[in-house]
Amino acid sequence: MAEEAVLGYLENHEEISDSGQFATDNGLDHNDVVNVIKSLHGFRYIEAQDIKRETLVLTEEGRKYAEKGSPEVQLFLAVPEEGSISKEELQKLLDPAVFKIGCSQAAKNKWVQMGNQISRKVQHVEDRVKDLLLRIQDGQELGKDDNNSLKARKLTALQTWKGYSVKRGPDYAPTRRRTATDLTREHLLGGDWRNIEFKEYNFSAKGPPPESGHLHPLNKVKERFKNIFRLMNFEEMPTNKYVESSFWNFDALSQPQQHPARDSHDTFFLKAPETTKQLPEDYVELVKRVHESGGYGSRGYGYEWKKEEANKNLLRTHTTAISSRMLYALAQHAKQQSFTPKKYFSIDRVFRNEAVDRTHLAEFHQIEGLVCDRGLTLGHLIGVLQDFFSRLGMDKLKFKPAYNPYTEPSMEIFSYHEGLKKWVEIGNSGMFRPEMLRPMGFSEDVNVIAWGLSLERPTMILYGINNIRDLFGHKVDLGLIKKNPLCLIGIR
Ligand code: PHE
Repeated sequence: MAEEAVLGYLENHEEISDSGQFATDNGLDHNDVVNVIKSLHGFRYIEAQDIKRETLVLTEEGRKYAEKGSPEVQLFLAVPEEGSISKEELQKLLDPAVFKIGCSQAAKNKWVQMGNQISRKVQHVEDRVKDLLLRIQDGQELGKDDNNSLKARKLTALQTWKGYSVKRGPDYAPTRRRTATDLTREHLLGGDWRNIEFKEYNFSAKGPPPESGHLHPLNKVKERFKNIFRLMNFEEMPTNKYVESSFWNFDALSQPQQHPARDSHDTFFLKAPETTKQLPEDYVELVKRVHESGGYGSRGYGYEWKKEEANKNLLRTHTTAISSRMLYALAQHAKQQSFTPKKYFSIDRVFRNEAVDRTHLAEFHQIEGLVCDRGLTLGHLIGVLQDFFSRLGMDKLKFKPAYNPYTEPSMEIFSYHEGLKKWVEIGNSGMFRPEMLRPMGFSEDVNVIAWGLSLERPTMILYGINNIRDLFGHKVDLGLIKKNPLCLIGIR
């Protein structure tokens, strides 16, 4: 529309002297006309010259008075025709700014008698200010004095208007030539290519942004946790092993074979291969003995421990299964060579046969940390936990005694949530028991402090997700993964 109008007009006229006027005359939107001018100019159909104009427009305050009347008239009208009104009463009737400006202007005009009581001095007034403002809105010109007084009262301001004057250009044509964007087989066969005008390459055109990979929020938060552990000089344990034997997942961790967690209602057991092929037999024998009759200060559980139960393969229910393997290897190394203190961590997937709901899935991620050294105490555990969680911005911690078959003492970890204004449980921790560590081969003076938490929970808090199925699994919206922001925890 706008393009035809511009090119058509120039066919019979020397120039369009003002694009604004041209738009008004042709009932077009000036922005559309400007866009057409820019495009036609680029293809040399037209030549265009900038024009700038300053126009007087009303400020927001000016627009208010043009509608409702000047403050002085509003004030005058609020004063009764006969008698008087108190200053306080009058103030209640008007907007504070209108009252203030109205008082001074109306007094200056000698329309009212000011004092504690206010009364009219004239019977009728004209709203000249409002008339002037309406005239400006209408595009009329005012005299110099009126302009200055409105400007001084900040009721008008100059606005710069930009437009163009336009003439025919070197490649002018009354309608746009169709240009080819590609050289085709047909052009070549038909010989058209000789006459066709090709669209020029635009080397500065921006291409569409390339599709690229996006990290899942869990992976981002996982990376942050890894960094925290690395900053604390922890080494990552190899967790690439979802299938575990019951032995490493439970027995080595002093979990008795009748424990409810070992029921198929809680744990996924494997059908094939159903059992593990290899366990360190000497160690297995010591674990059996501890379960049956105790040792190292423990009374044991007093039941008949079965190898077949320990052989059963399962999907690991916690990453502590990896910790038990790693600690066993460390103890063996200590026996053969010398003891080396270690700080280990892992972050990986675990599986539980749970009823799926908004906060539970059958698979989730665990974060686990442990320190193995001589002479560690509960004080060390609390210190490490304070250090670790304060790096996440959780400075207020509380601990509650708990029970784990493999730790004593055990503590649930709570953190004060500033947003929720309450204590929330964030993890579990403890000191591995001697009846777990000694059969592995550690000497009496070696202790292990450890803690674990889920990755999903802090991720959901950080990303404001309250249904776990929106975070993980087949119902996840891929848009969330593309758009989720970088999360900056653990920078301290
Ligand atoms: N394994 C525990 C769990 O699954 C966490 C934990 C790890 C507790 C280490 C104490 C020590 O919840």
